[in-house]
Amino acid sequence: MIPLSIPHLCGNEWKYIKECLDTNWVSSAGKFVDLFEEKFREFIKAEKTVVTMNGTSALHLALMASGIKPGDEVIVPSLTFISPVNAIRYVGAEPVFADVCRDTYVMDVNRLEELITPKTRAVLPVHIYGHPVDMDPLMDISKKYGLTVIEDATESLGSTYNGKHTGTIGHMGCFSFNGNKLMTTGAGGMLATNERSLGDYIKYLSNQTKTVTENGSFYHEEIGYNYRMPNILAAMGLAQLENIDDFIGIKKKNAMQYGRLLKDVKGITLPTRKAWAENVNWLYSILVEDDYHIDRDSLIKEFRAKGIETRPFFMPVHTMPPYRRCRRGDLCVTQDIAQRGVNLPSSVSLTEEQIKYICDVIKV
Ligand SMILES: Cc1ncc(COP(=O)(O)O)c(C=O)c1O
Repeated sequence: MIPLSIPHLCGNEWKYIKECLDTNWVSSAGKFVDLFEEKFREFIKAEKTVVTMNGTSALHLALMASGIKPGDEVIVPSLTFISPVNAIRYVGAEPVFADVCRDTYVMDVNRLEELITPKTRAVLPVHIYGHPVDMDPLMDISKKYGLTVIEDATESLGSTYNGKHTGTIGHMGCFSFNGNKLMTTGAGGMLATNERSLGDYIKYLSNQTKTVTENGSFYHEEIGYNYRMPNILAAMGLAQLENIDDFIGIKKKNAMQYGRLLKDVKGITLPTRKAWAENVNWLYSILVEDDYHIDRDSLIKEFRAKGIETRPFFMPVHTMPPYRRCRRGDLCVTQDIAQRGVNLPSSVSLTEEQIKYICDVIKV
């Protein structure tokens, strides 16, 4: 089976994890936690980063730190993995679903203002499959209405918007190091912000709001969370980060090969790259149009029969039972491309021959 997206563990992972085991520093303190946070911060060029248990806990922390309360509304795309929408509910707020653009699959910023009400407190754009949301107009709108912007950059590590890393443009950005992501710690996440004091507050929330008194007792001023990443996972993260430039280069090269081989296939629409975007193509994705000879699900079956793992686009979150009653805009593009989209194998370890084999299935 050619997998959809698997880890590429080719550097110092063994060495650094062994160091944790040899020195007994396996838990939530240790040198790799600080090192990973710092090196990641340098890589994405943010003021402050906070390492977390996973991307979902980073999103939860970001929403809590924004002061979002029950009854507040947060605008989020319906075409996304469900995690950011669940995180909105964790703070008791109401998700309001926005539509996406057909060419980039991400939030349509041109139609954002029509969803804003006096209850709107935040916007949560998701750079799905790697393409950045059009952040400059989104930031202008958020400024106009006094909204917090929390970027879900869990799928777009390595993508940039006008030269800035996704996840560093809004007030806060969240990353995931789940096993299927560009780089992995098994499970893990990171929160980034350019407001240092906000970052410090998030670090404090993520560590049970723990302060230590003079005699060594623990004191907690407010409710906190244990969202820390253990040293053993941070060690893996540091090793992965050391190779990230190579990973990004390979992903872009693979996307170009897919594009070259598929550009003339009738009925297949390829992803677009906007002038302001560098797309890491976390999952290279295509749309199966009506004039292709079979429908999307039949193509997925073909792939499966040929030993190729692919995935249909996310089922829109507003169709899931907990979210069916939420307010939403016109989601016609979301509904359409959710039924047409397919993610193709996109691992860093994918070979040129495998890409050709996958494209041959599409071309038949
Ligand atoms: C768009 C999106 N947001 C959030 C997450 C949550 O990250 P994690 O699995 O690390 O909690 C994921 C995926 O894993 C995701 O794809």
